[in-house]
Amino acid sequence: MELAQARETRKVVTVLFCDVTGSTALGERIDPESLRRVMARYFETAKAIVERHGGTVEKFIGDAVMAVFGVPAVHEDDALRAVRAADELRDRLGELNDELEAGYGTRLELRMGVNTGEVVTGTEERLATGDAVNVAARLEQAAQPGEVLLGEETYLLVRDGIEADASPPLEAKGKSEPLAAYRLVAVQHEAPGRRHGARMIGRKRQRELLEGTFANVTSDRSCHLFTILGTAGVGKSRLAQEFLSGVNATVVSGRCLSYGEGISYWPVTEVVKQLVPAGEATGPLASILGDDSAAGSPEEIAWAFRKLLEAQAAERPLVAVFDDLHWGEPTFLDLVEHVADLSRDAPILLLCMARPELLDARAAWGGGKLNATNVLLEPLAPEETAELVDLLAEGAEQGLRSRILEAAGGNPLFVEEMVAMAAESGEEVAVPPTIQALLAARLDQLATAERSVLERGAVEGQVFHRTAVAALADGGSVDRELVALVRKDLVRPEQPLLPEDDAYRFRHLLIRDTAYEALPKATRAELHERFADWLAVNGLALVELDEILGYHLEQAYRYREELGPLDDRAAVLAEQAATRLLAGGDHALERGDGHAVIGLLSRALALLPPADPRAPAGQLELARALSDQGDLDRAVVLLDEAVSAAREAGNERVLARSRIARIDFEMMLTPDWKMAEGLAEAEAALVDLDRIGDDDGAIWALRVIGSLIGWLGNNGEAQARWRRAIERGGRAGNRFVNDVLGWMLLGAWWGPTSTAEVRALADEALRTTSSKRLEGYARVVRGVAIAAQGRLEEGRTEVRVGKTLLHDLGDRISWAGLSAMESDMELGAGSPEHAYRALADGAEVLAASSETGYLATVLSMQSLAALELGRRDEALSLTEKAVEIAVQDDIDPHARDRVVRGRVAAQRGDFGTAGELLQEAGRMIELTDFAALQLEVALACAEVARLAGRTNEERAALASALAIAEAKGHTVAVERIRAQL
Ligand SMILES: Nc1ncnc2c1ncn2[C@@H]1O[C@H](COP(=O)(O)OP(=O)(O)OP(=O)(O)O)[C@@H](O)[C@H]1O
Ligand SMILES: [Mg+2]
Repeated sequence: MELAQARETRKVVTVLFCDVTGSTALGERIDPESLRRVMARYFETAKAIVERHGGTVEKFIGDAVMAVFGVPAVHEDDALRAVRAADELRDRLGELNDELEAGYGTRLELRMGVNTGEVVTGTEERLATGDAVNVAARLEQAAQPGEVLLGEETYLLVRDGIEADASPPLEAKGKSEPLAAYRLVAVQHEAPGRRHGARMIGRKRQRELLEGTFANVTSDRSCHLFTILGTAGVGKSRLAQEFLSGVNATVVSGRCLSYGEGISYWPVTEVVKQLVPAGEATGPLASILGDDSAAGSPEEIAWAFRKLLEAQAAERPLVAVFDDLHWGEPTFLDLVEHVADLSRDAPILLLCMARPELLDARAAWGGGKLNATNVLLEPLAPEETAELVDLLAEGAEQGLRSRILEAAGGNPLFVEEMVAMAAESGEEVAVPPTIQALLAARLDQLATAERSVLERGAVEGQVFHRTAVAALADGGSVDRELVALVRKDLVRPEQPLLPEDDAYRFRHLLIRDTAYEALPKATRAELHERFADWLAVNGLALVELDEILGYHLEQAYRYREELGPLDDRAAVLAEQAATRLLAGGDHALERGDGHAVIGLLSRALALLPPADPRAPAGQLELARALSDQGDLDRAVVLLDEAVSAAREAGNERVLARSRIARIDFEMMLTPDWKMAEGLAEAEAALVDLDRIGDDDGAIWALRVIGSLIGWLGNNGEAQARWRRAIERGGRAGNRFVNDVLGWMLLGAWWGPTSTAEVRALADEALRTTSSKRLEGYARVVRGVAIAAQGRLEEGRTEVRVGKTLLHDLGDRISWAGLSAMESDMELGAGSPEHAYRALADGAEVLAASSETGYLATVLSMQSLAALELGRRDEALSLTEKAVEIAVQDDIDPHARDRVVRGRVAAQRGDFGTAGELLQEAGRMIELTDFAALQLEVALACAEVARLAGRTNEERAALASALAIAEAKGHTVAVERIRAQL
C-alpha cells in the first residue's frame, strides 16, 4: 500500500462518477432491508473494482460512487485505469442484475462520467478538489442509463486504447463553453502501443552490441541476459524491435503489466502460449495458464519454463523478450535470473527492457553474472534529436522546432508527443498530457524528502543551486536527496552560476515543470519570495540579478493575486518586483536587447501603482522599444499615456524627452510632415533639455537633429552634431550614446566619408561596444564597406550576421530599414536580384507596421533594383509609391524618383524627358553631400548619354562618377567606371 501524503499537492487525476438509476423504483418494490443489502452489494462491487485498478473510492453521495485515480500516488495510466474500471463496473453489474431480476424482478442501471484534470489533494476533508471533479459529475448526470461519458482530457489520454463515439457537447452551469464528451464503446485488452512516428535514428552502437551478443549466444550455444535500461520513452522497446526485425532466431515475448491481480507470471504465460499449442501445456506450466487441477511452486515453474526454452533453442536459437521489467513481480524476476543462471547448452538470448526503477527494487540486477550485460540507453544526442524533430515536424516553423528540441532533452517519446500536440492545438508546446502523467507518476514514487528538494529546486528554475535549496528546505537535509536525485537521473550536476556553490540541472525542462506544478500556489508564492530574499544576499555575482529577482518577486505577487485577496505584504512585493524589473529593463536597454526591454518594462509597469512617479519614464522607454519592433500603434498610444502622466506629475524631463520621441514617430508615420519643422522642434526641445540638465535627453535630441540634418542633405554637419552629442559626456555604454554611434556609421556611409574610414569607424564600434544592437549596425556598415573595397562575399557575410543580430533582438525597423544599405551593396556588386529580394522583405515588414518614413527609401531603392532587372513598369510604379509616402523634403526618394523615371524615359527613346528629369535630380542633390546618391545620378546621366549616342557627354558623366567613386574610395565602382571609360 502506498503511503498517503499528508501535504497539499496539485496533481492531475482522473475522476470517475458512477450513479445508479432505477433504485428509487426498486425502493417501491422491495423492503428497505433488502434494498439496503442490494445497494451494499453494489457499493462493495464498485469499491473492489475501483481498487483493483488502483483507484481510491472517495465517497458515496446518495447512490453515487466517486472514485479518484491518482491518489495517493499518480500512475502514468490513471486515465486508462479509470476507463477500464468503468467498463468493468458496467459488465459486473450485469451479474448483479441477474440476481436482482431473479430475486426481485427488477434491474439497476449505471450512469458514469470520467474526467481528467488538475485538482488539489491532500487537504484534510476531501481526496480531491477542483473543477475536474465537477465536470466528471456533470458528465455522469448527462449520461444515459448504461452509458459511460468521457471528458475531453480523458479521451485524449486513452483514445489509443479504447473505442468511443463523440457525443453532443454538454451545456454546463458556470461554463462558458459547452463540454466535449465521448461515449465509451469498448476497451481494448492489449495495452496501447506507441506511435513509431519516424524511422529509427542513431543507436548504432547499441544495436551492434546486441548483434554481437547474439552472435556469441549462437556460436557458444550459451544463454545471455541482456538488459536495456533507460527512462520512459527513451527508446528501449524501439531498439529491441529494430534488433528483432533482423534477427535469425525464434522470437518469443512477454511484457510485465503495470497493475492487476495474478499478474506475476503474465509475461511467462504469454511466452508459453506462443510456444505450446493451446491445451497442451502440462504440469507447472499448466498451472500458470489457469488450469486449477495442475500445481506448481515457483521453483517448479521456473524449472519447467527453462526446460521449455531450452527445448525450443535446441532446434533454433531463441530470443525471449521481456519488456517493462520494472513492473515485474519478484517471483518473475527470480524466474528470469533462474533461466540465466542455470540454462546450459542452448542458445538463448534473454532480452529485457526496464526503466531504472528496476534497480530500486533489484540493485544487483544482472550483477555478479558473467553472462549478463546491462546497457543504459541515454537520450539521443542533440543532432539526432534535431533530426527526429525535423522528420516529425516537417514544415513546422523553426521557432517551434527549436523549442521542442530544447524541451525534449533527447527523449524521442517527448518529441513525438510534443510534435503531435503542437500539430493538434497549434499552440505553444506545453507539457503533453501523456508526458505529464508519465513524469508525475515518476515523481510520485520519490520519497517525500527527495520530492521536496526537487520542488524547491524547481522554484529556482531549470538550473538550481545547492545552497538555495538548502535555504528553502527549512534546515532539512538536502545532500543525500540530491545524490539520490542524480542517481535517479532526474537532475545532473551542472556548472554553478554562483561562486562556491554546487548547481544541478533538471534532466528535462518537463521534469522541472511537473515538479513545480505539483506545488500549491500558496507554497509557490512563499517559496518564490523566500528564494528572492536568499538571492538578494547570495546572488550578487549574477549579471542579470535584477531581472531574476524581479521575476521571483513578481511570481510571489502573481500567485497571491490569483489566490486573493491581496494584503499589504502583496503590495510591498509588487513594488519590489517592479523596482527590480525596471532596473533589469535598464540593463537590457544598454545591451540593446529590445525584446527584453519590452518584456521587462511591460511587466514592471503592470505591477506599478498608476500614480507611481516612475511610470511615465517607463512608458516612454517602452514606447521607444515598441517602435523599434515595429509596433508603432501601441508605441504611439503609450507615448500619449506617458505625456499625460508626466503632465499630471509635473515630470519635465519626460515631457521634454517625449517631444523628441514624437519627432521620431512623425518621421515614421506622417507623410505630410516636414523634416525642417521636425528639426526646429528638436532644437527647441534641446533647449528645454539643457535647461533642466538632462544630458541623456540632450544626447538623444542631438541624435535626432543630426539625423534630420543628414536626411536634408548635409551629412558633414550631421556628423558634427553627433560628435557634439558624444562630447556631452555620456558614459561609455550609455544607450543614448550607442544610438548616436549607430547613426554616425550609417551617415558616414551615405555621406562623403571614405570607405576606409567608414570601415575603421565600424571596427572601432565593434571593438568597444557591449550593445548587441550597435553591434548589429556596425556589422552591416562594415560589411557594406568591405564589399565596396572588393571583398563581396566577406561583406555579405558580415551584413547577414548584423541583420540576423537585429532580427533576433526584435529590432524589426532597423532590420528592414537596413535593407536599403544591403541593396546598395548588392547593386554596386551588380546583383540586382539580391538587392530586390532584400528590399522586398524589408518593405513588407515596414508596411506591416504602417511605417512610411524608411519605407519611402526602401521602395525607392526597390524601384532602382527593378529597373536594373529590366522591369520598367514595375520600377515606375514602385517609385510612384515611394514618393507618395515620402515626406516632402526627404531628398533621397525624390531624387531617385527622377533618376528612375529619367532612365526609363531614355530607355524608351524619350531623351528630352530623360534630360529634364536628370537635371531635376541634379539640382536636388547639388547642394548635398550624398555621395552614394550623387554617384547614382552621375551614372544615370552617363547611361542616358550613351543611349542617346552622345559619346562626349557620356565620357564627361563617367568622369564625374569616377571622381565621386574615387573620393569615396569605392574600389568596385571605380573599377567598373574605368572599364566603361
Ligand atoms: N532512436 C529512435 N529513433 C526514432 N524514434 C524513436 C527512437 N527511439 C524511440 N523512438 C520512438 O519514441 C517512442 C518511445 O520509444 P519506446 O516506446 O521504445 O520507449 P521506451 O524506452 O520503451 O519507453 P517505456 O519505458 O515507456 O516503455 C516510440 O514511438 C519510438 O518509436
Ligand atoms: Mg517500452
